[in-house]
Amino acid sequence: MSVSRRKFLVYAGLGSYATLAGAASQARLAFPSLRRKGEGPNFHPIAPTTADELRLPDGFRYDLVCTYGEPLGTSGPHGKEVFGYNNDFIAYFPIDALQGGTNSREGLLWVNHEYPHPLFVSGYTWGPKKTEEQILAEKHSVGGSVIHVKREGQVWKHLPGSRFTRRLTANYPKMAVTGPASALLPEAVGTLANCSGGRTPWFTALSCEENYDSYNDVLVQGKYRGYRWADVPAQALDERQYGWVVEVDPFGELPPVKHSALGRFAHENAAWRLAPSGQLVVYMGDDANDQYLYKFVSAEPYQARASRADRRELLSAGTLYAADFANGRWLPLDLKRSEALRKEGFKSQAEVLLETRKAAKAVNATPIDRPEDCEVHPLDGILYVALTNNSKHGNFFGQIVRLIEHNDDPAGESFRFEIFFAGGPQSGLACPDNLAFDRSGNLWVVCDISSSSAGRGIYEPFGNNGMFVVPTSGPEAGDAFQFASGPKESELTGPWFTEDEQTLFLSVQHPGEESAGMDQLSSHWPDGGKSVPRPGIVAITGFR
Ligand code: FEO
Ligand code: CA
Ligand code: CA
Ligand code: CA
Repeated sequence: MSVSRRKFLVYAGLGSYATLAGAASQARLAFPSLRRKGEGPNFHPIAPTTADELRLPDGFRYDLVCTYGEPLGTSGPHGKEVFGYNNDFIAYFPIDALQGGTNSREGLLWVNHEYPHPLFVSGYTWGPKKTEEQILAEKHSVGGSVIHVKREGQVWKHLPGSRFTRRLTANYPKMAVTGPASALLPEAVGTLANCSGGRTPWFTALSCEENYDSYNDVLVQGKYRGYRWADVPAQALDERQYGWVVEVDPFGELPPVKHSALGRFAHENAAWRLAPSGQLVVYMGDDANDQYLYKFVSAEPYQARASRADRRELLSAGTLYAADFANGRWLPLDLKRSEALRKEGFKSQAEVLLETRKAAKAVNATPIDRPEDCEVHPLDGILYVALTNNSKHGNFFGQIVRLIEHNDDPAGESFRFEIFFAGGPQSGLACPDNLAFDRSGNLWVVCDISSSSAGRGIYEPFGNNGMFVVPTSGPEAGDAFQFASGPKESELTGPWFTEDEQTLFLSVQHPGEESAGMDQLSSHWPDGGKSVPRPGIVAITGFR
């Protein structure tokens, strides 16, 4: 294969990476050219479309596993439980994961439910105040679900009423807060704004609370823009309880907790890596214009043989850093080490964590263009970060950056970076959001062009939001091949492969989000005809 001079320069300066990159390239050659047939996840790319359907390449199919409102066959504190709204992050847990198994035909799914759509969830239409009943309907539609799934024959099904099945909502349950901020905030009620997340090496889900600040009434230029839960004062949120990384055990052995050591901001996701020292490192983006990329480095090393309860303690103590791209430095948000934080008036580490954005700004971290998902390349450890866009600075199509830790040590404090992929009509992909790697190191990317813009104006060439495969090495490195196109006004989110990579779970979020009323629906997915659109999760098969 040919290595361009530019790529050679990047790798040549990286010591161990020069070797690693070579090994990775060999491994990645196992991924066949997308123009060849017969082996690997091979497919003929689809073209962009505005069709109101989930379109896949020939030879692939999807099963609708669970959709909004579907009974889960369980009861919770608010009555019979149903699958929540706006499914986002999905993590698959082999049913035998705690015994070391990799069952790819039966498992548990943790699914985030990010935000409600008032029209479809509470029947609220813009104007009057919300009633308590409407607010409760919305509160119970968000959070997350644990569901039990099984592939019977060729078809994936959800098994209602399994002993593992349950819902978390904005009201339930009450959770302990771990780490330094617990001094000021010992517990929190429920979870909401759950965007993306991660799966820990001890098989729990990390669920990231993102836009927690849009639920109480938000008055913008004389208009309410938020969900107006504060219309009923007893239902208003104490916002300090949200904006955290929540850990949930789908197997139900460990109670859910919020980990304050990972900071409080609009958390997008959490991707981990082990450092040579054994310390656990968690990378996280703050998805807002001009916010920051963070990493958490645990104080203690990972002990594979410790109990799950002990291993989760790693997320309670460590150092939180914000990225300084101008100098390639990780800046510790640690009151003991930072004069800038003391000057800013922070009195305790608890305060630093409660106001992480303010702390990152105080130490002069680099504001970037909406860092969404970040993922670690399985073959060379390089971190890929999706920067969705930043309309404030004319970055309308976004890009994917890759960050290379100095000496390949994620626990260290310096790094280099480069632009791996630039969104735009020239590459066929705009506004990258969630990322997932397959074992061969191909990057799977879903897009988040806002529902009000998708298929229009400068976004017309892209059609509806889609999903793409971008090889990270070989002759097609950096080229985007479209694998899926979502229904109208939807976003495909939460891609997650089973361990055998024979199934890809995917969320279809907010189809028909811009519908002006029940008589003006802009999507009818998944049932078609004149039906009301519903978010849902699908299992895609057909990989060879
Ligand atoms: Fe909820 Fe950053 O997307
Ligand atoms: Ca997202
Ligand atoms: Ca991801
Ligand atoms: Ca997004």
